Amino acid sequence: MKNIVLIGFMGSGKTVVSRVLSRKLKMKIIDIDTLIEKKARLKIKDIFKKFGEEYFRDLEEKVTRYVARKRNIIISTGGGIIKRENNIKNLKKNGIIVYLKNTFETSCKRLKGKKDRPLFNEKNLKATRKLFLQRLPLYKKAADIIIKTDDKSVKEVAEEIIKKVREK
Ligand code: S3P
Repeated sequence: MKNIVLIGFMGSGKTVVSRVLSRKLKMKIIDIDTLIEKKARLKIKDIFKKFGEEYFRDLEEKVTRYVARKRNIIISTGGGIIKRENNIKNLKKNGIIVYLKNTFETSCKRLKGKKDRPLFNEKNLKATRKLFLQRLPLYKKAADIIIKTDDKSVKEVAEEIIKKVREK
């Protein structure tokens, strides 16, 4: 089976959906952000603070190249994975790209009070909304399947993904 690769903005539910998919399909999950944290021995927000975003993107690209070679896994990505075309090119080799699409308001609701995302700033929602709008076309372009997640449960989203992946 091809890999199932979840992409989408912060707060789109990639992590929680990957867990349900993994249970239902009996496929292993690899979370790219978790691997980056292990490799760097630092939390994402500390990588950004100490070394800056480009350093994080370099690590993300390296880890993605490694993960994309695997098969039969669910890959949960970070929201910025689409920033480098090379990441999508690599992930498409063995994988189906599933874009979890939601409104900016839904992301805000889901991330309320969370402090672990350096690029999601509740005090500057204008900048975060700008990032969201900039990225929309990139997620769309990368996606093989698009699933709207607003007002759906994690289980509903997972079931819709399984159905659409099987139709492919
Ligand atoms: C990022 C999203 C984060 C994480 C990092 C950068 C982004 O992942 O990779 O903070 O650029 O959108 P989540 O989408 O899991 O929050």
